Amino acid sequence: MHQQTLLATLAASLAALPFAQAGLYSKSSPVIQLDGKSYDRLIAQSNHTSIVEFYAPWCGHCKNLQPAYEKAAKNLQGLAKVAAIDCDDESNKPFCGSMGIQGFPTLKIVRPGKKAGRPVVEDYQGPRTASGIVDAVVSKINNHVAKLTDKEIDAFLETDGEKPKAILFTEKGTTSALLRSIAIDYLDVISVGQVRNKEKAAVEKFGISSFPSFVLIPGGGKEPITYDGELNKKDLLEFLKQVGSPNPDPAPAKAKSGKKAATSKAKEAKEAKESSSTTSSEASSAAAPEATLIEIPALKSKAELEEHCLHSKAQTCVIAFVPASTSEMRNKIISSVSQLHTKYVHGKRHFPFFSLDSDVEGSATLKEALGLDGKIELIALNARRGWWRRYEDGEFSVHSVESWIDTVRMGEGEKKKLPKGVVVEKPETTEEAKIETEAPAAESEHDEL
Ligand SMILES: *[C@@H]1O[C@H](CO)[C@@H](O)[C@H](O)[C@H]1NC(C)=O
Repeated sequence: MHQQTLLATLAASLAALPFAQAGLYSKSSPVIQLDGKSYDRLIAQSNHTSIVEFYAPWCGHCKNLQPAYEKAAKNLQGLAKVAAIDCDDESNKPFCGSMGIQGFPTLKIVRPGKKAGRPVVEDYQGPRTASGIVDAVVSKINNHVAKLTDKEIDAFLETDGEKPKAILFTEKGTTSALLRSIAIDYLDVISVGQVRNKEKAAVEKFGISSFPSFVLIPGGGKEPITYDGELNKKDLLEFLKQVGSPNPDPAPAKAKSGKKAATSKAKEAKEAKESSSTTSSEASSAAAPEATLIEIPALKSKAELEEHCLHSKAQTCVIAFVPASTSEMRNKIISSVSQLHTKYVHGKRHFPFFSLDSDVEGSATLKEALGLDGKIELIALNARRGWWRRYEDGEFSVHSVESWIDTVRMGEGEKKKLPKGVVVEKPETTEEAKIETEAPAAESEHDEL
C-alpha cells in the first residue's frame, strides 16, 4: 500500500517536475517552504506566530492535507505564517530529527517566547481542516494589545509621550487577530490599545461616535487622527506608516544575488549560534526537554477554574493570576512557571499549573476571597484539603519559584485555610467524610498536559 503510494507519487512528481523538485508545495503556493536554516530565520526569530508542517512527499496523509493547508495559509495571510518543510530531503533530515519528528505530517505551532530566537513550540493535534488550523493558530497569536479602561487610558497616553499610539474603539471584549498582528508588526514602535464602548470617558475624550473606530495618536502633542478606511491589514499598515515603519519581519528569500546570499549566510550563522540549543543537536529533543517550552495552560472560564482547582475533590493546583494584557512581568511569571511545568511534565509527578487572566470570570472573586491584591500572584491551592499558600517572593525567577514549589511539595511553610465559599461542591459529591480519609489519588490524570 505504502509502496504503491510511493511509486505513484514518485512517478507523478517526476513527470510534473523533471528537475527533481519533489516537495508537495509549488513555488506559487501561499505556504512558505523551509529548510533547517530558514526555519531559524523566518520562524524561530519572528515576532509572529507560525504553523509548520513537517512532511514527506510520499506520505498519503500529507497529500490529503495539502489543499486544506494551502487554504489555511491564504486565510492566515498577514496574521500568521504557514510553512512546510520536506523531511524526506537529505539536507533537512538532521533538522527534522532535532525537532523530534516521528511521523508525517506533524504540525507544530511556533510562537515567540520570552527570548528572541527561543520560541514556544507546541504540537497541533486538532482537525486537519483549514478552519481547524486557522482557529488554532489565531488563538496562539501573541497579544500585545493593551485593554484600556477609563481609569487606564491617561496613563497609557502619557507613557513615553513621544511614542505614537493607536487605539481601536470597539464593542467587542476580545482582541481580534488583525489588531494583535498589527501590534506585533509595530512592537516597540507604536503602542496599540483597545477601548470598549462602555468606557464612556475614553470614548468621549476622543469624540468617538461609531464602533469600531481606529485612532492614531502621533505623539509629541500632535492631534489624534481618526482612520476612515476599511479595517483590513494592508490599508491599516499604510495608515500607520505615516508615524513609523513596521518591524522588518524577514520574508522568504527571493533574490539570489551573491552578495545578498553571503550576508544572509553570515546572519544565519550568527543566529544559529545564538539559538544553538533550540536546533543544533539531534539529541536535544530526547535529552533536553527545556529546548521546547510547554506553556502552562490557561484557565479560560469560571467553569474551568472550578473543574480543575476549586471543586471539593480537586488536588493541589498552582495558579498564576496574571493581568489580561501583556506586560514584562506577565511574560516573566508565565515563562518561569512554564519552564518548571515543562520540566515536571517530563518527570513523573507534578502539580498541574495554570495561568488565570484577570478578565476571566471568577478570577477577581477568588483573589478577593483570598485577600490577594497584587496584579500578579502565584498560589498553590488544595480545595480537597482546604488549604492554600501564597508565593511571597515577588521575584518570579525560575529558581525562586522552584524553591517555593519545593516547599509546597514538602508541606513546609505557612498553609492558609481556604475561606468559606471558595470550594464548590460537585453535585455527585455527597460522602465528604469518605473523601477526607481516602488516600491521595495519583495526579496522573494531569500527565497528559
Ligand atoms: C521584533 O520586535 C522587536 C521589538 O520588540 C524589534 O526590535 C525586532 O526588530 C522585531 N523583529 C523582527 C524580526 O521583526
